[in-house]
Amino acid sequence: MLISENKVIDETRQGEATVLNAEVKDKKGNLYLESYGCQMNFSDSEIVASVMAENGYATTQTAEDADVIFLNTCAIRENAEQRVRKRLSELKALKKEKPHLMVGVLGCMAERLKEKFLEEEKLVDLVVGPDAYRDLPALVERTESGSKSVNVLLSLEETYADINPVRLTGNGISAFISIMRGCDNMCSFCVVPFTRGRERSRDPESIMKEARELFEAGYREITLLGQNVDSYLWFGGGPKKEFKLLSDEEKAASVDFADLLKMTAEISPELRVRFTTSHPRDLTDKVLHAMAAYDNICKYIHLPVQSGNTRVLSLMNRGYSREWYMDRVEAVRRILPDCALSTDIITGFCTETDEEHKDTLSLMEWAAFDYSYMFKYSERPKTPAERKYTDDIPEEVKTARLTEVIQLQNRMSLESNKKDIGKVFEVLVEGPSKKSVDDFCGRNSQNKMIVFPKGNAQKGQYVKVKVNTCTSATLIGELV
Ligand code: SAH
Ligand code: SF4
Ligand code: F3S
Repeated sequence: MLISENKVIDETRQGEATVLNAEVKDKKGNLYLESYGCQMNFSDSEIVASVMAENGYATTQTAEDADVIFLNTCAIRENAEQRVRKRLSELKALKKEKPHLMVGVLGCMAERLKEKFLEEEKLVDLVVGPDAYRDLPALVERTESGSKSVNVLLSLEETYADINPVRLTGNGISAFISIMRGCDNMCSFCVVPFTRGRERSRDPESIMKEARELFEAGYREITLLGQNVDSYLWFGGGPKKEFKLLSDEEKAASVDFADLLKMTAEISPELRVRFTTSHPRDLTDKVLHAMAAYDNICKYIHLPVQSGNTRVLSLMNRGYSREWYMDRVEAVRRILPDCALSTDIITGFCTETDEEHKDTLSLMEWAAFDYSYMFKYSERPKTPAERKYTDDIPEEVKTARLTEVIQLQNRMSLESNKKDIGKVFEVLVEGPSKKSVDDFCGRNSQNKMIVFPKGNAQKGQYVKVKVNTCTSATLIGELV
């Protein structure tokens, strides 16, 4: 993992505990729940905590207090899995001390390894995939009576729409709402379609209900989550269908992502709406116009490009060319002149030449991304790339290319931030800054973090902040 100016160049988070502060009826024990990976996994942990709380398990802050430990795991890159293995080996000592302790692995690594997990890691009692969380209490009960349990069935329909995720960690100001699950894209490097199953969209009514309840509870920012939010399409439930295959009735009642954005933005002008992740192939002008029409839809798009070279993009099965991506960026610049853009980059994908790597650098420079998440290609078992191509770029070359990409991005991030000096932004106050209790931090619409002396501001308030100075990671300013 690379650190640049106190920012971690890896969007996957690691090993954070999920704690619920609600009372639990008929308490059976303590659950320690630790999450890894993307926001969707963290959002799932809130569902898991909710399901377990209903069944008598209170969440605790530390593994030492627990009767049941769940690790909600990520499989996106080799190092994500190594972190989980390391954590499991740390837990061995605890399990020795407390033989009744139950250890479960959930999430993407559980789904990828299935029963094999039980053979490979002897301390694991329970292996549960992302679509089987409703079954957790029953599985825990069965495991208590001595047998190990596995449920890794993927579903075409499960969206946990009716489960009220309990807001656990977080700041009480911004929350995530899953609007869809799974992914049908089959990018050749990616394990997600295998670990999360087929794409399905969640009932917009249940999304709206959750968003309204959050707003009433004091939240001021929601982020709509999905692996490919632009392909969100509701037509009454069930597995995904293409729009053109819907009946006339289904078409009339259908809700696409632009519609959903508008619906959530209408809840209140005081509620900010964000979303992630957009797919360059599916990002429509309709979505960009919906963003332009509402001040409270934040002007920030995470638009992963992966590579700036059309041949590599085609090997990656991304479904767009360099030119197509540039056209989408131009549309963003035209329709949303003040919109910030970030991206994901993979260096050293199979057969990538030096010239092709330079295409990535030139595209980055052209697009002037405000921020990037940058990775070395990590071959994942059973993915199309693993089956069809050779992971032939030497580790040193991958690293050298990654370093170049990171240096370029750091320079561009700093330039982008410098341009903001002197400007005044509306900032939603999230809470005290990490470095000083006298400062607050919050984001502007463009998703840039701004730190400023507290003054009379309150958490959850919108304030105007003038930017005085910056680093490549943060804007620093004062209330006006
Ligand atoms: N659905 C999102 C991305 C989800 S994974 C999208 O399509 O953009 C987040 C990022 O991890 C990806 O954008 C990609 O840059 C990176 N990633 C995925 N698989 C990877 C692999 N095998 N090796 C290195 N990086 C990978
Ligand atoms: Fe993976 Fe591609 Fe789906 Fe993103 S769109 S989750 S990279 S398969
Ligand atoms: Fe990781 Fe699964 Fe998310 S593989 S990045 S936790 S969808």
